[in-house]
Amino acid sequence: MSVDLEKLLRPVDTPLPPYPPKVITLADGSKMVVRQIGRDDIPDLLPHVEALIHHERDYYDIVSVRVYAELLAYYRYRVVDEYVLIGQINGELSAIVNGRIYSPEIGMSYHTLGLKRGLRIGAHCFAAKMEYHIDVLKQEEVLIVAESPIGFRRWMIEYNLEKKFEIPHELGGSPSYSLTREIFNRARGSLIVGSRPVPQDLLDEAMEKILPPSDPPKAPPDFLAATRAKYDSTGTSIIADPKRKKVSHA
Ligand SMILES: CC(C)(COP(=O)(O)OP(=O)(O)OC[C@H]1O[C@@H](n2cnc3c(N)ncnc32)[C@H](O)[C@@H]1OP(=O)(O)O)[C@@H](O)C(=O)NCCC(=O)NCCS
Repeated sequence: MSVDLEKLLRPVDTPLPPYPPKVITLADGSKMVVRQIGRDDIPDLLPHVEALIHHERDYYDIVSVRVYAELLAYYRYRVVDEYVLIGQINGELSAIVNGRIYSPEIGMSYHTLGLKRGLRIGAHCFAAKMEYHIDVLKQEEVLIVAESPIGFRRWMIEYNLEKKFEIPHELGGSPSYSLTREIFNRARGSLIVGSRPVPQDLLDEAMEKILPPSDPPKAPPDFLAATRAKYDSTGTSIIADPKRKKVSHA
């Protein structure tokens, strides 16, 4: 009985071509391998996403908690046609990006979560997922929303995305923006970079184990550090830190 019910609950994925791994040389000279992972790899990611769900600064909290749910939904077969790509530097997890195939022509971008700051790692991994939709899956457009000011700057402004406000996005119905094939082609070689094939030693290192991020986003050490963050002028990241004493607003 329970087995039959599971058949009803479990959506059937469309077979999709895999994302061919690539390597990107970052501004500090390190090499990041971007590759697709499968369901079996999800448990290796979850603890590193969970660690950020109370990190209010730069909206890591809402994005991490949603990414956690999306990864779990993928792992437990409660979402259809999702894919997950990761960035790894020296084997360490440095970013997670995911999305879904909405229709043969339209992709649905879910999230981008950077686990190491300051090297445009998130931006590069977002570009990789656009590449997956447009170049590999041959889709015509990808629907995107931003959940943070940095995200808005990185996607809507840097790519000059097209407004598609009449289409509610899957992430809560917010107005969608669209990355069209034309926009993607304009960004080739500037925002969308990297090379293939990945040298075998780098690929082997990445495939062997997803190592924990050694420098993940951290809560600001003091109130002034929080206020220095451009979009955190209230220092709410400090207030939200469960390890700190409650701050009175009176
Ligand atoms: C949005 C995101 C993926 C962008 O990642 P990224 O391209 O690697 O960029 P970073 O987050 O490292 O840096 C963003 C800005 O903060 C600055 N920054 C660098 N190091 C930083 C640090 N340790 N803490 C805070 N800001 C930092 C960078 O200089 C950069 O400024 P710039 O836009 O003028 O270049 C990432 O910020 C993130 O995961 N944010 C939380 C989740 C989120 O908002 N996701 C997107 C949802 S739409």
